[in-house]
Amino acid sequence: MPAELSPIDKAKFAAARRAVEFVEDGMRVGLGTGSTAAWMVRCLGDVVREEGLRIRGVATSARTADLARQVGIEIIDLDEAKWLDLTIDGTDEFDQQMNLIKGGGGALLREKIVATASDQMIVIADAAKEVAQLGAFPLPVEVIPFGWQTTRALLEETLVSMDVLGRTTSLRLNGDKPFVTDEGNFIVDLHLSRIGNVRQLALVLNQIPGVVENGLFIDICDVVIIGQGDGRIEIRDINKGTVEHDRIEFVESENLFSEMGE
Ligand code: A5P
Repeated sequence: MPAELSPIDKAKFAAARRAVEFVEDGMRVGLGTGSTAAWMVRCLGDVVREEGLRIRGVATSARTADLARQVGIEIIDLDEAKWLDLTIDGTDEFDQQMNLIKGGGGALLREKIVATASDQMIVIADAAKEVAQLGAFPLPVEVIPFGWQTTRALLEETLVSMDVLGRTTSLRLNGDKPFVTDEGNFIVDLHLSRIGNVRQLALVLNQIPGVVENGLFIDICDVVIIGQGDGRIEIRDINKGTVEHDRIEFVESENLFSEMGE
């Protein structure tokens, strides 16, 4: 493994590598977006090429679809798959109940659709993503471009009565222009610092006209795989109520480490 791979990348890789062991022959698999998910896609590509695993993937973003095809994974539409056996994705934050904030990479809408259409969602993360209470990471809200400033004002007005610590918002930018999602929408990030009632907030945000979806994933994640820079792994399964420990041995592989994660 090249010396330049940081402990955080090793942690992401370790979680991703372990998650791929959940994938079985013939499965339809949701493929997440972000740097951790990119490691998973590369690892899965290795298994497909080297062990002949036959799977079909549904990508949560155009960039994940591109990467998956590059590493030899067949990509199909969600409507072709209809339902998925498993989705593996990263997260920006997770709490003890395995509720998540996602969308730091701007793919929250497809990610939520794909994860919800799966028998099981496995989240892969480095240990720094675990929080006692969600909200330090700005909560992404995907909004329709039409009237986005009005929608943003409504979001701010709504936050006044919510159990949150901060109430500022920002339009996500790409350079000096609004960031545009794969679905052609904008993202307003909510800087809340701490969210007291995630369930209530998630429901209320989605009632605002112009809001397409928010980045709170509640009761969607089944398993969290937490990686450490030294290869240690913790696997928490919320349905079984189990916590397992494991270890990934880092083996240098030209294919995997020739390119860094996103
Ligand atoms: C993409 O929209 C996000 O939900 C990502 O899954 C999340 O931001 C985690 O990304 P990293 O794995 O790059 O931290």
